[in-house]
Amino acid sequence: MILVTGANGNLGAATINFLLKKIPAENIRALVRSEEKGITLKEKGIEIALGDYFNSQSLASAMKGIDTLMLVSASSVKDRYQQHANAINAAKEAGVRHIVYSSILKASPNTKFAAGLDHVNTEADIENSGIDYTIMRNTYYSDFLPMILGDFRDSGQVFYSAGDAKINFALRADMAEANANVLADPSAHRNKVYNITSSATYSFNDIAGMLTSIVKKPITYIDIPLNDLNNGMLQHGIPVEVAEMLTSIAASMRDGEFDYADNTLSTLIEHKPLDLKDFLASIYSL
Ligand SMILES: NC(=O)c1ccc[n+]([C@@H]2O[C@H](COP(=O)([O-])OP(=O)(O)OC[C@H]3O[C@@H](n4cnc5c(N)ncnc54)[C@H](OP(=O)(O)O)[C@@H]3O)[C@@H](O)[C@H]2O)c1
Repeated sequence: MILVTGANGNLGAATINFLLKKIPAENIRALVRSEEKGITLKEKGIEIALGDYFNSQSLASAMKGIDTLMLVSASSVKDRYQQHANAINAAKEAGVRHIVYSSILKASPNTKFAAGLDHVNTEADIENSGIDYTIMRNTYYSDFLPMILGDFRDSGQVFYSAGDAKINFALRADMAEANANVLADPSAHRNKVYNITSSATYSFNDIAGMLTSIVKKPITYIDIPLNDLNNGMLQHGIPVEVAEMLTSIAASMRDGEFDYADNTLSTLIEHKPLDLKDFLASIYSL
């Protein structure tokens, strides 16, 4: 039996959809925070467990009879590491045999990414738990890039703070497919740490070039200081802690923390991950 947490979220739901192509629905349990959030999954024949990373008792009952856990990292900033620690402890107590965890590319204690240390500490807890594991060190979601690009079509400009660093963007759906393939055959991926990336890296200048070809209008990238990026978000009403988190991602990109590519993802999913050029064309070529 496989338990997928964050099952109504984007990565969790997509992982389950790929998993359903490989194993019967009755072998999947989905952790969600309310009955309502589980409706779509229940309609697919998946067992629902109500639970919250902050509630150890709910995690203990969700993990009963589970062999393999897909631990989707928490989305909230507050006590993120503790949330994961609660889930890992519950897995240990329930006798879970394998944990698959959604981490971050180049997880390192020296990271500029504000949530990076939570991933480092969670990875360490998993590795020390005695449970077999597969760490999926996911790069930055391509899916999030349009939020950064904003209304470049009108202004002809993209403002961001990644300098000229190369960045790897990969589609969340490709990452979900990789999760599902690992979950369906965990022993083949025992105690592995995978870098989950597409096959090419691009700078924001490269991206501006791609956008120029796609929208057939000159698009320029303007590199702005990290402080200006942060202040701009605050002026648009983004809460302080969210702005800090988002600015830390730019700082981390700027420092080369997302500059990496290998063929692990394509090997896991047995096809080429969607390249950023094709992703951008699919969104902006209309
Ligand atoms: N690599 C990247 O570029 C990138 C970008 C953004 C996020 N991430 C990380 O990857 C994770 C998955 O991404 P995603 O796109 O699927 O995010 P998402 O759509 O926001 O889904 C997050 C899931 O986690 C659940 N969750 C959050 N806090 C929880 C808690 N205390 N107890 C139980 N469940 C909880 C959410 O449940 P509710 O619906 O009840 O809130 C939701 O199902 C994120 O949570 C984040 O850690 C990675």
